[in-house]
Amino acid sequence: MTSRVALVTGGTGGIGTAICRRLHAAGHRVATNYRDEARAQAWLRKMRESGCEATLVPGDVSSPEDAERMVRDVEAELGPVEILINNAGITRDTTFHKMTAQQWQEVINTNLNSVFNVTRPVIEGMRERKWGRIVQISSINGQKGQYGQANYAAAKAGMHGFTISLAQENARFGITVNTVSPGYIGTDMVMAVPEPVREKIVAQIPTGRLGTPDEIAYAVAFFLPDEAAWITGANLSANGGQYMGW
Ligand code: CAA
Repeated sequence: MTSRVALVTGGTGGIGTAICRRLHAAGHRVATNYRDEARAQAWLRKMRESGCEATLVPGDVSSPEDAERMVRDVEAELGPVEILINNAGITRDTTFHKMTAQQWQEVINTNLNSVFNVTRPVIEGMRERKWGRIVQISSINGQKGQYGQANYAAAKAGMHGFTISLAQENARFGITVNTVSPGYIGTDMVMAVPEPVREKIVAQIPTGRLGTPDEIAYAVAFFLPDEAAWITGANLSANGGQYMGW
């Protein structure tokens, strides 16, 4: 496969790390952003120990200025961004009647406004070069809603609305835009759900277990080769059968 420059936002997290590894293994040059320098350097050391390379750029995706600078930093080091995986995300779970404006805004800024902030500085270059791959990492809970996640589900549903609009606008420019909607994966984010609640959720998954980050990275990689050029505006569910919309 052609070696491309790939920016994975939130690449140091659970799913993000698996995506970085898979893209590196496919021969791509991978970059990710970070907010905590010490944590990011520790992550990079571990990646290198396992033979994986990545470029780290500082920046918070919820800030348009940071996102623009991040993209320019990656371009300066690796060249133009050809693959963008909008993966960075957070939770602030609570029922809506208790939700603060801050809990709402933090999730919308980090999970949804980030998609504007990071995609905007890469889209013009992709259109000029007539090739691009953009993948949003949404969630099963953007498709079905979830008790305690009005903020998160709104942001995640919004990500796919973005996907299907951008897919239409950019199809003639060799750019595909797709969404992967993971179900419950064994990451720190899911392990932070109180155990009794999590057990009830796992009981609703037909495969009878949490997913793995690698299983999501596999779904993301599906959209990236030249052979996937006809697939755009899709929402690929990877959720162990927990939700089967079509
Ligand atoms: N449907 C109906 N009722 C529910 C419910 C559900 N899914 N979940 C909880 N309830 C009920 C409980 O049974 C309980 O009822 P009683 O008071 O009658 O017993 C009531 O709601 C309150 O529940 P909690 O005791 O759990 O309330 P809490 O205020 O302590 O916590 C919560 C609320 C923070 C939302 C907690 O239930 C929770 O963390 N839920 C999980 C949310 C979740 O799935 N988050 C996903 C995080 S991972 C992720 O987001 C990745 C991804 O993309 C999948």
